Amino acid sequence: MSGPTASAPHVVVALRERATTPAGDRALLVGVVAEATGVTLAEVEVSRRCARCGGDHGRPVLVRCGERGIEGIDLSLSRAGRSVAIAVSFAGPVGIDIESVDAAAQSGFDDVAFGPAERDRLATAGPPELRTAMWTAKEAVLKATGDGLRVDPRELEVAFAGRMRSAPPRPALVGWPGSPVPVGSFQLSALDAGPGLVGTIAVIADARPEIHLLAPDAQA
Ligand SMILES: CC(C)(COP(=O)(O)OP(=O)(O)OC[C@H]1O[C@@H](n2cnc3c(N)ncnc32)[C@H](O)[C@@H]1OP(=O)(O)O)[C@@H](O)C(=O)NCCC(=O)NCCS
Repeated sequence: MSGPTASAPHVVVALRERATTPAGDRALLVGVVAEATGVTLAEVEVSRRCARCGGDHGRPVLVRCGERGIEGIDLSLSRAGRSVAIAVSFAGPVGIDIESVDAAAQSGFDDVAFGPAERDRLATAGPPELRTAMWTAKEAVLKATGDGLRVDPRELEVAFAGRMRSAPPRPALVGWPGSPVPVGSFQLSALDAGPGLVGTIAVIADARPEIHLLAPDAQA
């Protein structure tokens, strides 16, 4: 990860202490968009739109961003523990997901999250962080497409490059028969989301974008 300097395709990511309400987290999202684009808070408007029913829920959508405009910007948000993770993508449709390692270690989790090949891999080489990283990779991909958990996550297969025990491992989507785009179009990056948390950023793009992590106190 690097600092927000280059104009290359990139994703601005912020990890913040979670607000006391979901609306408060969405206000944090507006703040991160303003910071990432250089416009004022008042110039940013974010909405939600369900791809299924059109209702006021679902993925966050940027509807106004001052003179910069909304062209080429996509957003995602995730909560776990006391944290909220926010992604503002200038590289393509984005999904971000963070999860608590303890939550993914709960009994029965693997049966609803992973296919047979993944469960075999976890049985032989599965530190809890790896299980959580595999899960967040799937959720991040399904957020990037806007499907969310309307798609059975067991339809997606995730693997890792490099040593299985390296932290954080680099995930890759290696299979999804129903994918709306070629599987190789999902560019996945591991996110160190803090103690007890694991995360993934998924972007639909031709090449892996740079990830620019905002400083923790940037919103203070
Ligand atoms: C999106 C989803 C994967 C989130 O899972 P989660 O791990 O519990 O929650 P996270 O904290 O990581 O993410 C929540 C955020 O994801 C985003 N989100 C919700 N649905 C989304 C979708 N379909 N695509 C992308 N992002 C979505 C929102 O920003 C949401 O925050 P909000 O509640 O403030 O609006 C899951 O809740 C889901 O699939 N929901 C949609 C189900 C659906 O479409 N039902 C049909 C309704 S008509």
